[in-house]
Amino acid sequence: MEAVVLVGGQGTRLQPLTLRTPKPMLPFAGSPFLSHLITRLRAADVDHVVLATSYRPEVFHEFFGSGRDFGMRIDFVTETAPLGTGGGIRNVARRLESGPDDPVLVFNGDVLSGHDIRAQLEMHRRREAAVTLHLVEVDDARAFGCVPTDSHARVTGFIEKSDSPVTNRINAGCYVFTRKVIDLIPEGRVVSVERETFPGLLETGEMMLGYIDTSYWLDVGTPAAFAKGSADIVTGVLESPALIAPPGEALLQEDAIVHSGAVVNGGSVIGPRTKVDAGAQVTRSVIADGVHIAAGATVFNSLVGRRSKIGQRTVVANAVIGEGVSIGADNELTGGVRIWNDAEIADGAIRFSPLP
Ligand code: GDD
Ligand code: MG
Repeated sequence: MEAVVLVGGQGTRLQPLTLRTPKPMLPFAGSPFLSHLITRLRAADVDHVVLATSYRPEVFHEFFGSGRDFGMRIDFVTETAPLGTGGGIRNVARRLESGPDDPVLVFNGDVLSGHDIRAQLEMHRRREAAVTLHLVEVDDARAFGCVPTDSHARVTGFIEKSDSPVTNRINAGCYVFTRKVIDLIPEGRVVSVERETFPGLLETGEMMLGYIDTSYWLDVGTPAAFAKGSADIVTGVLESPALIAPPGEALLQEDAIVHSGAVVNGGSVIGPRTKVDAGAQVTRSVIADGVHIAAGATVFNSLVGRRSKIGQRTVVANAVIGEGVSIGADNELTGGVRIWNDAEIADGAIRFSPLP
């Protein structure tokens, strides 16, 4: 079984952490986000993955190599200029070995899902669809592809990111394509699978099905969602074959030093060689390697990049701290703030009061 994973996006909402590392390669529950998807694919009998890369392809290559450590073959195809989601899928077609009528899995590279991939494949095969989309329900569908279906699970429309969605059922970013349908996507130009390919297939009467499902699902594109997804794996809310330790309140990676008087909970990850001093508290956060969290500091629902320092009694909440950042004592960094790589913040320089 073959799978294509789209990993070409720039991950702008997670900057500055994505300036050096593409979003799918950011540390997540102890290993790069993408390794959780790759191990899930392996468990679903996928033995050949083609990564459609564009932004910083070398980072993927360095980590995954030939794929041998993951029990599969991994190929890389890099777009010289980003071709969009559909263009990215078309661009890797020459590396696929499946026959024209075989199913090929296609994944957005930033989605965390617990759905049954085999059941989605089975539906696709049984009903001989052109494309079968994994669909989930969300409270607010505006940021997603909105996908109405009829009573036979046939997709009747595909409306990408609309202000007035006609249903809460959305595209979850995992598709089964019949191989020959991929070959029909125009080559060598930018194509959006959501705005062009899917609406086009519906117009020509091709059968598109929705595999509707209620298991765990999360797009980890925002800092808050990224922290939540990582914590959900660490605590065992979502099972991942890539989790390196038994589920629990926290994951301490190799050579992490957490003082006995510090609290680390809520599914936080303490990266390799990171030090957490007495009286510090780290809750539902992802702390990279070589970080120092000084005595009495609080880090809540945040992402902290490698080699950064959080000063004594400083509060970091709902924030993204880049790499090599140095934050002095007694600062308050909250409410969606993002601190750029290598920034230096003096003791007591930043205070926060919520608007009245
Ligand atoms: N190779 C390649 N080339 N990959 C790309 C490109 C490109 O030009 N542009 C985006 N990607 C990859 C991203 O890295 C990501 O893994 C995936 O395609 C989807 O792009 P996002 O930028 O994350 O899209 P989105 O989250 O706004 O919307 C998509 O996902 C939603 C579900 O999370 C759409 O597919 C929506 O319809 C869907 O609901
Ligand atoms: Mg996304």
